[in-house]
Amino acid sequence: METKQGDFGPPRDEQELSATADIMMHSYAMAPADAAAWTQRVGAANLRLLREGGRVAGTLVSIPMGQWYGGRDVPIIGVGGVGVSPVHRGHGTATRLMQSLLREARESGAPLSTLYPATQPLYRRVGYEHSGARYEIRVQVPAIDVQERTLSLRAIEERDEAAITACYQRMAQWRQGWLSRSPYLWARVRAPRAGAAHGYLVEGASGVEGYVYLVRKQTTGFNQELIASDLVANTPAAARRLLSFLGDHRSLAKEAVWYGGADDPLLPLLREQTYSVKLDMHWMVRVLDVAKALEARGWPVGLSGALHLEVEDDLLPENRGRFVLEVSDGVARVRRGGEGRMRMHVRGLSSLYTGFLSAEALRAMGALEADDASVRAAVSLFWGPQPSIRDMF
Ligand SMILES: CC(C)(COP(=O)(O)OP(=O)(O)OC[C@H]1O[C@@H](n2cnc3c(N)ncnc32)[C@H](O)[C@@H]1OP(=O)(O)O)[C@@H](O)C(=O)NCCC(=O)NCCS
Repeated sequence: METKQGDFGPPRDEQELSATADIMMHSYAMAPADAAAWTQRVGAANLRLLREGGRVAGTLVSIPMGQWYGGRDVPIIGVGGVGVSPVHRGHGTATRLMQSLLREARESGAPLSTLYPATQPLYRRVGYEHSGARYEIRVQVPAIDVQERTLSLRAIEERDEAAITACYQRMAQWRQGWLSRSPYLWARVRAPRAGAAHGYLVEGASGVEGYVYLVRKQTTGFNQELIASDLVANTPAAARRLLSFLGDHRSLAKEAVWYGGADDPLLPLLREQTYSVKLDMHWMVRVLDVAKALEARGWPVGLSGALHLEVEDDLLPENRGRFVLEVSDGVARVRRGGEGRMRMHVRGLSSLYTGFLSAEALRAMGALEADDASVRAAVSLFWGPQPSIRDMF
């Protein structure tokens, strides 16, 4: 079935909005009221649907936001809530929905799209590839032996919003892949699915130095689990103050959980390894615009070099062909042409771009072909911390 113009777009009326809620209900096993509330919260402007035979067959949420790469905020289109009506499944609807979304996303000017896959072949088929990870960090609360109460801690109030956002950004911008959050993502921090979150901030001489949003969930008997939808510390004192605060829950809370990178900087502050770090999910990126994506990210300062790339892309022909990437002073310039010494599908470029896999690893897996000199240059240029994301969307 071919997708015609007009088949793809936001819901046109209440009837299509309720068809969207219906698909969400079936796809994610939601209660009808929760599915309706979810579509309202997301808003018609962010929903996209595919009509087939005059009916809504598939839906998704398109979330414009950013991701930090090399200290720069790269615009992305986040994709969530992909669902196809049970009666339409197995006929390529999700594939066509994603193809339409990707063409629209490219036209929007964002150079990347990012998502969490519940199934990978669907997204690989349209050009996404593994590009980073989200880990679950689970700390035993009674074993938190940090005692520090010098900085003052208080409940977050509405007037603190700008200071909290700035505090998050100070940390996130140096964590490869972390989100530059849109209001939709902040709403998920403050009102997560896990329950009501209570926010606490830590203040020092220079203002807000850290904060935590915490859901206290009852487990067995009176026992609790602490779920931090966000936990940020920008100074050592704030880090120790927040760990002490979690420890203050130790009479009933057995574990505290939060998400992010495997290299969480709070963990080395604990005396022993009284925690686990477990892969939650790999996330995938699709490069929408090769030249724009390479120019939008930050690059290692003090390194300069050039790469001659050749990219294959079966969905977005604008990405096909040869590019020369020149990096110097932390900035990249890209022009068309060159010798195409490093050849890859646009999927391989995603893993390379974020620093998830090195050019060496990609070549060893057959995802990239290049001479040794090009591989060595690419290993240095794309070197960086392992990419991760705290948020789920
Ligand atoms: C996953 C889902 C969106 C697929 O919709 P669809 O229109 O049937 O998908 P397509 O026909 O375009 O199939 C594309 C590929 O997706 C994969 N796929 C399709 N249905 C799948 C399913 N139920 N489970 C796992 N993978 C599936 C297959 O690899 C398929 O390719 P193949 O048939 O060549 O193997 C649909 O089954 C659904 O809504 N499921 C529940 C919600 C969900 O999991 N959403 C994804 C969240 S990231």
